[in-house]
Amino acid sequence: MLDDLREFIEKSQAIGECKTLNGAHWDLEIGRIAELSLSVPDSPLLIFDNIPGYPRGFRVLTNFLTSWRRVAMGLGLPMDLTGLALIRAWKEKVAAVKPIPPVYVQTAPVKENIILGDDVDVLMFPTPKWHEFDGGRYIGTGNMVILKDPDSGWINLGCYRSQIVDRNTVTVHFVSSHHGAAIVRKYWDRGLSCPVAMTCGQGAQLWISSMSPVPAGICEYDWTGGLRNRAVEVVRGETVDLPIPAEAEIVLEGEIPPPETQSADEGPFGEWEGYYAGGKTPHPVIRVKAILHRNDPIQIGVPMLVGKYDDHLVWGVDLSAQLWAEFDRQIPGVTGVSFVYEARRRTMVVVSLKQAYPGHVKQAALIAAGTYRGATNLGKYIIIVDDDIDPTNMSEVLWAIATRCDPKQQIEFLSNRASYASDPRLSPEQRKSGDLTCSTAIIDACKPWAWRNQFPKTTKMSTEVADEVRRKWGDLLFGGNR
Ligand SMILES: Cc1cc2nc3c(=O)[nH]c(=O)nc-3n(C[C@H](O)[C@H](O)[C@H](O)COP(=O)(O)O)c2cc1C
Repeated sequence: MLDDLREFIEKSQAIGECKTLNGAHWDLEIGRIAELSLSVPDSPLLIFDNIPGYPRGFRVLTNFLTSWRRVAMGLGLPMDLTGLALIRAWKEKVAAVKPIPPVYVQTAPVKENIILGDDVDVLMFPTPKWHEFDGGRYIGTGNMVILKDPDSGWINLGCYRSQIVDRNTVTVHFVSSHHGAAIVRKYWDRGLSCPVAMTCGQGAQLWISSMSPVPAGICEYDWTGGLRNRAVEVVRGETVDLPIPAEAEIVLEGEIPPPETQSADEGPFGEWEGYYAGGKTPHPVIRVKAILHRNDPIQIGVPMLVGKYDDHLVWGVDLSAQLWAEFDRQIPGVTGVSFVYEARRRTMVVVSLKQAYPGHVKQAALIAAGTYRGATNLGKYIIIVDDDIDPTNMSEVLWAIATRCDPKQQIEFLSNRASYASDPRLSPEQRKSGDLTCSTAIIDACKPWAWRNQFPKTTKMSTEVADEVRRKWGDLLFGGNR
């Protein structure tokens, strides 16, 4: 049993959330269709086939997890969960994970086609050029890079983007604080090339683990095995001693030489913030030694589009649950956490708090600002609201900011906070001097602790009363859509 991408597609079809499009071109057209499709909420998964210049069956999948139902399905949770209920359920599932190591199997669909040596040509796949000003075609966007720590043997999986350079060379983009960067540096410091395998298509849960802040030393295969309650099946690489997921659609095997030996220009790329801010810079490369692929392979594309949801939805759920769990370990009173997916990834987080003592709000804000699982890199807005506000409901959050927060007294700033080269708001001077920092606003949108009991009563119904009215009148008001 694989739990693979094809199973996910079948399930998406079964719930009416999958569309196949024939004939769209890899050069910008696929990216534009994917972006337009995001203009409606809960947009379907898209499969592009019959791409000009490529054999039928060599497909590109986009809009993977762009609906609440598919996010829940990918996380292995009931599909009727949304909003805070989904975040809470994921938090509980993650808390119960007992990692299960992967099992080796003799063969797997990913070995249906093995291409070696001079026959290697990554251009055999219809990799899109996603955005107009991208520096090239990005084969790795919904991908996983598999590396082994040379000291401990720990296997790490991370989603790190990759641009095609030529038929047997692709780049790889490591953010310096990520585990992949630390591992690859160990090889380079010893003057060695780092063995690598990169998948460009895999099941949802495995991919979600690769983007999740799984602690160093824990392998994402083990993590996924724990989430699935069944070991992930892997096969040995053809040219590298690395475990390859049996469920993969496409795998590039090879090595990453030290950058002083070989590197290539990468970018610009339409980044997750929605800009080409990172520019073109020298990057490490993978020298591709082998390609494995299933028959009729499906490449996953996550081109970072500006629109409703994209990958921000699933990442938001995961990050929110992880930060909420961190709060539970540290302080009482946090009743909900939500990274605002409309604001993209970690830039804005809302924390609901049942205030219990003076300074509680600030304490919560500083935990959100400082913890590894929190609003660290490019975390620009930390908003604390009272516990009667649903942090996933932006109407309620904005109402709280507008009515409970006096801007001069309740907004404070932190400076010199970690940002990214892709931050569009870095000034040209900052970029030049390598000052990749930003500031963070802490917005205290809670009733002031000292006179909270004198704060005017709200007209807003309590959850209990709302539930009561819903029970009695819900069918008439909302039909099946409660
Ligand atoms: C679509 C997508 C693209 C990403 N691209 C990159 C990337 O190019 N480089 C990077 O270091 N992290 C990237 N990330 C974030 C990492 O995958 C994520 O932080 C992960 O937890 C890193 O794993 P690690 O801590 O084991 O290295 C991306 C995440 C997603 C969802």
